Amino acid sequence: MTETHRPARIFALGSLNVDLVVQVDRFPQPGETLPGRTFHTFPGGKGGNQAVAVARLGGSPSMAARLGDDSFGEEYLATLIREGVQVNQVERIPGKTTGTALIEVDQRGQNRIVVVAGANECWDDRAVSIALAGIAEGDILLLQLEIPLPAVIEAALIASRRGAQVILDPAPAPEAPLPRELLGALSWCTPNEHEAALITGIATSSAGGQREAALALVRHGVSRAVVKAGARGAWLALEDRAELLPGFPVEARDTTAAGDSFNGGLAWALSHHFSPREAVIRANAVAALSTTGLGAQTAMPTAARLSSFLEKAGITPGEQKNRDTPASDP
Ligand code: RIB
Repeated sequence: MTETHRPARIFALGSLNVDLVVQVDRFPQPGETLPGRTFHTFPGGKGGNQAVAVARLGGSPSMAARLGDDSFGEEYLATLIREGVQVNQVERIPGKTTGTALIEVDQRGQNRIVVVAGANECWDDRAVSIALAGIAEGDILLLQLEIPLPAVIEAALIASRRGAQVILDPAPAPEAPLPRELLGALSWCTPNEHEAALITGIATSSAGGQREAALALVRHGVSRAVVKAGARGAWLALEDRAELLPGFPVEARDTTAAGDSFNGGLAWALSHHFSPREAVIRANAVAALSTTGLGAQTAMPTAARLSSFLEKAGITPGEQKNRDTPASDP
């Protein structure tokens, strides 16, 4: 493999949660008690999910994260190592609990999530700069919003100053508009419809609104914007053009972490030098496959599963590699 074709290194800085998942027939009303169908404990958290999505595809991502000094933290660390994620920058924080997410999944695979941050709160500028000491030009950094916002901004600024590509998944939805200095440091911003509406102030309930929001993100200073539209696919905006790259039909059991799987798949494809358009097509496929099992990371595909899925969908693995097809208006 020549220098130019060597995969770029991928870093993920963000949250690790243990997901406590209950399957329900329907979501309870306030004050109502319902029987749950099953209960499972899964590794999750947006940062960990994105890193594991990359590792499943054969990457070797470096994770920077915080765990508690409890048994959840111990188990999660072992999971990351087993998955092939590099954990040199994963720290256990004395006296802190590991992040936890209480998740209800209904019969249609939709979810409701409450997160307790725990050790994920333990970030400051110094810790970020230590964690990213090794990031360099050509690397890719995955960020989300499940750790304190100042730490996310610092990480984006450090990485973009060094010439790395920064991919921000602005999830969970930010409470206030994202600062311009953060947007300007992003190579990619990948909100879902709801997050895109909050960030841009544009209603995204229609396809036209989603397209407008993607284009608005680019006008706000992001190099490339994606608005994830669930099973319908994802809007990709490059400069003043946008197109919907359709999703892949699957039978969804649990949509938890579909967005994280998308971002892991996007980083993996970019690290293999696919064009933005081809990378988003692959990210759509990774996201679709991830919904076919219960739990955030359970059904994330390997590279072999992704290839055979794409082949069945008529997309040849590797086709159009390195070809930067411009996005077009619908
Ligand atoms: O994006 C899905 C993740 O959100 C879950 O794994 C849960 O931990 C919450 O952080």
